[in-house]
Amino acid sequence: FSRDVDSLNPFKLVAKELSGIAKSFEEAVAINHPVLQRAASYFLHITGKRFRPTIVILMAYAVNATPSRLANSKQSVDSSPRILPSQLKLAEITELIHVASLLHDDVIDVADSRRGVKSVNALFGNQLSVLAGDFLLSRASVSLARLRNCDVVELLSTVIEHLVHGEVLQMTVDDNKDNLQVYLQKTFLKTASLIANSCQAVALLSNCREQVVKVAFEYGRHLGLAYQLVDDALDFTGSSTSLGKPALSDIHQGTLTAPVLFAMEQFPEIREYAKRRFKYSDDISKTLLAVEKSKGIERTLELAKEHCSLAKQRILETLPDTSYRSALVEMADFVLTRNK
Ligand code: FPP
Ligand code: FPP
Ligand code: MG
Ligand code: MG
Repeated sequence: FSRDVDSLNPFKLVAKELSGIAKSFEEAVAINHPVLQRAASYFLHITGKRFRPTIVILMAYAVNATPSRLANSKQSVDSSPRILPSQLKLAEITELIHVASLLHDDVIDVADSRRGVKSVNALFGNQLSVLAGDFLLSRASVSLARLRNCDVVELLSTVIEHLVHGEVLQMTVDDNKDNLQVYLQKTFLKTASLIANSCQAVALLSNCREQVVKVAFEYGRHLGLAYQLVDDALDFTGSSTSLGKPALSDIHQGTLTAPVLFAMEQFPEIREYAKRRFKYSDDISKTLLAVEKSKGIERTLELAKEHCSLAKQRILETLPDTSYRSALVEMADFVLTRNK
């Protein structure tokens, strides 16, 4: 169960590209101010799973092996793996946006750790964490503009809107919050949109057929949903040490996630605790007990599994058989077995 990310084949397959990206991050965040520089580049040195850039790079190679939109039908499938500089840049931009959102998220969540180390807000304070996040976003925007592709700029700019919208949905009071559909919509905005739109963008950069562009998006969407579902289960089942960030954080913030929503169907009384945002002293412990006794975790992981199967199915029926497509399939399996 505790597979090491770095020993996984998909990550190895793109190890060279990932280290190239790490180098160009240095340039992307170079700024003539030592404190801003340190805060902004902190999580570019302490890397996470690098899930998003890995997927974007794999998707780039996988879609580049399909015949382009302009090619006539007789053209044979190009078998030599290739990736465009603009696609590599996109992988970098995706990670920059991700890290920017983490710097803001840890302020909002008052989280003191991230990636097994102190969070930027804990080390540098809230103001600097917010400003460093803004700075990373601005540098991501400049890199995006330099791709000279308006459709791609529009996709990634919309992602930023989605991140904000998803986050606001999560923190505001709303009577529909105990609804799984609403939860999945929020999850798309907060989590899946970045990876889905980044996958779509690399397909656009490759000038792929419309069907391939759509499949790239759908793969990212299903994978992103599955990833967040697993994350929400891990919030209940993992420890702070194994996660490298606080455990049980969702419920302590009054956030309703899939395990609780499923548990509610078996134990309707927790709907009341949730409505009052777990304000009485034993609301949380009673909810935790209900989640434990219910099939909440099991059903959350079951739903994640369904989304992973859909992600795999979409690319298997459309993209040519390459080692990159296999790696994308393996990434979908990895989402289900990760434990941090
Ligand atoms: C931390 O990301 C952020 C979250 C856990 C929110 C959930 C969003 C995702 C996990 C979307 C990812 C989906 C795909 C398919 C890539 P993280 O756990 O990835 O952080 P890390 O960068 O520190 O590894
Ligand atoms: C992690 O979620 C947070 C996100 C996936 C998105 C956060 C988005 C914002 C703060 C909006 C601002 C956006 C930008 C681009 C600056 P989590 O708190 O559930 O996960 P965690 O356990 O990894 O903290
Ligand atoms: Mg958080
Ligand atoms: Mg959060």
